[in-house]
Amino acid sequence: MNRRTLIQRGIQLGLGTLASTALPGAHAVAASGKRGEPVATETTGKGALKAVAAARGLLLGCAVDTTLMRQDAAYQAALREQFNCVVGENCMKFGPTQPQPGTYFFDDADALVRFAEENHMKIRGHNFVWHEAKPAWLDATLTRENAASILTNHIRTVGGRYRGKVHSWDVVNEAIWLEDGRPDGLRTASPWFQTLGEQYLALAFRTAHETDPKALLTYNEYGIESDSDSESRKRAATLALLKRLKAAGVPVHALGVQSHLRAGSPASYAKGAAELTQGAQELGLKLFVTEMDVKDDSLESDNIAVRDAAVASVYSTYLDAMLQSKATHAVLTWGVSDAHTWLNRGTRFREKHPTRKQRPLLLDDADAPKPAFYAMRQSLWQASKR
Ligand code: XIL
Repeated sequence: MNRRTLIQRGIQLGLGTLASTALPGAHAVAASGKRGEPVATETTGKGALKAVAAARGLLLGCAVDTTLMRQDAAYQAALREQFNCVVGENCMKFGPTQPQPGTYFFDDADALVRFAEENHMKIRGHNFVWHEAKPAWLDATLTRENAASILTNHIRTVGGRYRGKVHSWDVVNEAIWLEDGRPDGLRTASPWFQTLGEQYLALAFRTAHETDPKALLTYNEYGIESDSDSESRKRAATLALLKRLKAAGVPVHALGVQSHLRAGSPASYAKGAAELTQGAQELGLKLFVTEMDVKDDSLESDNIAVRDAAVASVYSTYLDAMLQSKATHAVLTWGVSDAHTWLNRGTRFREKHPTRKQRPLLLDDADAPKPAFYAMRQSLWQASKR
């Protein structure tokens, strides 16, 4: 079956399943704009996510697995059809790009950049500075004396290679960890913090700006979206960090909100989304939803239609809230289809149902659009009407 047939079959399956099972809320995630009003009957062309997003001036993107991108024509077709923006799921991280000190590997990142340019897609760079995805040599090598030059050389080399080609760079990823107990909330178990102290953030942003003055420089964080007490505290610490950076004249242009969400927990996002978008606006920052997916591991039901409807309803609730504000300029999901989500690698994210595959993304294992696809499209469409 070719890719287009799969998509067409997906339309039938997606809508047919919803119509025939009459799940609560099923209508709300059908292919409609306002309740019952169709966005488009097709899921490609003017019915593609990127087309609906463009009507609101939004970038619509996803994380790309470059190994798959090289091998799988159907995967490439889905990227081309639905998205106008890509980010490397791993290929631009520190470990993959500098596997040995001073020795760089760019084959995967180059392939992604080529693919994006050929298809007129924007590129998000992810990321320069993180406490994960480090090459084995880094922790063993870093000292207070050499850390600044290792950090700046890395940014100059990787950022310089793609200068002028990257829409936005996640310069620093996940620098807040309240559990470490500092009043400013900074994560202490990071080799960059341990060698350079809090100034590593400013150093990274300043170096990135010198290297690629046109790229929008982003601070990217997770667990700051919901209205829960703990996420509200982490959100406040994140916004306070950004306020300090801005006050010190550090070139930071956007807040990346990762948006790894969970279905089935009583999470609400109205307050979280309002605080994030207003906070970003007050600081003169753009807001990007950078890594959206919705875990379904905690749902009791094994019924796929029930689980898909619950996942879809989180897409609707969250995106409706985040797209209330014009501060939100981009929405990216962390992957394309459930077949390749990071959440199914190992059992780390499948604590409750280790043998059950999660269904957190927009397309199913056969690349057919799921209720989450229609939910996202409806939220995008409604946002374009505001
Ligand atoms: C994840 C990738 O999806 C995995 O393939 C990899 O093994 C670990 O990293 N937050 C981030 C992303 O900023 O870089 C992470 O990506 C997911 C969580």
